[in-house]
Amino acid sequence: MLPRCSFTVCHVLVLVLCLSSAEDFDWTKNEHSTFYYGTFPAGFSWGAGSSAYQTEGAWDKDGKGLSIWDVFSHKKGKIQRNETADSSCEGYYKVKDDVSLIKELKLNHYRFSISWPRLIPTGIKTDHINEKGMQYYDELINHLLENKITPVVTLYHWDLPQVLQEKYGGWQNISMVNHFNEFANLCFERFGNRVKYWITFNNPWSVAVEGYETGEHAPGLRLRGTGAYRAAHHIIKAHAKVWHSYDTQWRRKQKGLVGISLSGDWGEPVDISNQKDIEAAERYVQFYLGWFATPIFHGDYPQVMKDFIGRKSVQQGLGMSRLPSFSPQEKSYIKGTCDFLGIGHFTTRYITQKNNPSGRSSSSYFNDRDLAELVDPRWPDPGSEWLYSVPWGFRRLLNFVKTQYGNPMVYVTENGVSEKMLCTELCDEWRIQYYKGYINEMLKAIKDGVNVKGYTAWSLLDKFEWDEGYSERFGLYYVDFRSRDKARYPKASVQFYKRIISANGFPNQREVEIWRRRAVEMCSSSNQLLAAEEQRSTAANILRLIHDPLTSHMEMVTEIVVPTVCTLSILLSAVFLMFLLRRRN
Ligand code: NOJ
Repeated sequence: MLPRCSFTVCHVLVLVLCLSSAEDFDWTKNEHSTFYYGTFPAGFSWGAGSSAYQTEGAWDKDGKGLSIWDVFSHKKGKIQRNETADSSCEGYYKVKDDVSLIKELKLNHYRFSISWPRLIPTGIKTDHINEKGMQYYDELINHLLENKITPVVTLYHWDLPQVLQEKYGGWQNISMVNHFNEFANLCFERFGNRVKYWITFNNPWSVAVEGYETGEHAPGLRLRGTGAYRAAHHIIKAHAKVWHSYDTQWRRKQKGLVGISLSGDWGEPVDISNQKDIEAAERYVQFYLGWFATPIFHGDYPQVMKDFIGRKSVQQGLGMSRLPSFSPQEKSYIKGTCDFLGIGHFTTRYITQKNNPSGRSSSSYFNDRDLAELVDPRWPDPGSEWLYSVPWGFRRLLNFVKTQYGNPMVYVTENGVSEKMLCTELCDEWRIQYYKGYINEMLKAIKDGVNVKGYTAWSLLDKFEWDEGYSERFGLYYVDFRSRDKARYPKASVQFYKRIISANGFPNQREVEIWRRRAVEMCSSSNQLLAAEEQRSTAANILRLIHDPLTSHMEMVTEIVVPTVCTLSILLSAVFLMFLLRRRN
């Protein structure tokens, strides 16, 4: 595990609080440390996920149009080390290989997304449909079904056609609603005979906040205080329109379901005896998950968002709220447009009340919430800076969904953890601990009565992690991005997850401990295999360096020095292990 010394999450202070103080928080009489042995309901669906831009590669092949992410990642300074997903995992060319990895895991479903500009290069259906793109998704869907794996398809995982961004301003413009609906209908028409689970949008919070408020994600706009709200408004309308299209035109024949995948961290009050903190924590969740879920289940934005943004807008001398409003017709059109709710969840924060300045210059989504986020320094944080492992927060979030939205059918569409390692590491014990803890809390939530029908580990493969490039690896399978064929190697967590799936839960302590031990034993031989491969590619890089004296210093360090040191240490530890074993015998 890597030590973490700097946090960039805004307002994160280090919290030295006694965790036990949160234990008697109403319905979650959960013993944080108690593990629950038991099984999931029969028919529970186990899966893993990916998304088009993060894995497919082939960014300009076979007639695909540009997406906002293609353009954004090619601009200097937007992505770590200026990496792009031009080739990424080359998933476009590896359908059979990847389906066999899915089979190896014995998954029931696989979640992937369709790249809109691969099907409709300009995003406008009447312009042109790219049949080669159609063929790719046909092949993927057919291959999954032949192997008895249910496809769960996301229509929008962030890769808007660039033409729509340039022509209309992307999600700032209401015209996206119709363009997206046309694209969705094309997918229903062509794939709906085989696809029965549709997700309109993946994590619209990120699209709105990181795409149009902070600009860390494509299209990189910084329209603070207004951009995110406007984008979200149009996304919610687009979602509702697509749900209605399916409902009226396709449902009778195709008998599928249409949902949305929302992300949400859990927010826990810092001081559970302080009403202000309790309200701030509730606000945190309402501004996150509730922003999208409340209109979809109840027809309008959460009251607390309307109150806070409305009040601040008045203080800023604006004639109307920066949060747009729905007409009565729109409210009833949007309400109830969800056959199942997808939940993407990774982490938790402690929340305390904090009054932000309300001047016009400080207008932003983050300021509107009047709160501060804190973390417990004891929470494990093996990978992404924002991702602390707090399994009990998952149970609380799922219970929140149950009570707030009338216990809808829930599919967990994303849950997992990354690693930030210089050296290759297939023995990912911390990921095993993360999955074990989070899946167990989900089991407890099901016991609490939450209607969770399936779980999707995020992600099947290491892949392009947006503005972090390839520096954060979420995969169950390691991808050697430097090799020409982007070889995949199972991490220890593959073995562990596979056991959970085949037992449909956690039978007893002894068994689960044996799974963990075996998984870790098995991974060390794959580690050596990979080390040998890496040594070969390092040698090739050295030759390249000799022929290309302009190779930068950074490249030399990351492509040659680091892998050499890593390979040597893996080999040395293997030799040392053999030596120890010999001595014992
Ligand atoms: C949510 C996004 O949907 C997904 O694409 C990303 O890989 C994970 N968060 C982890 O950051």
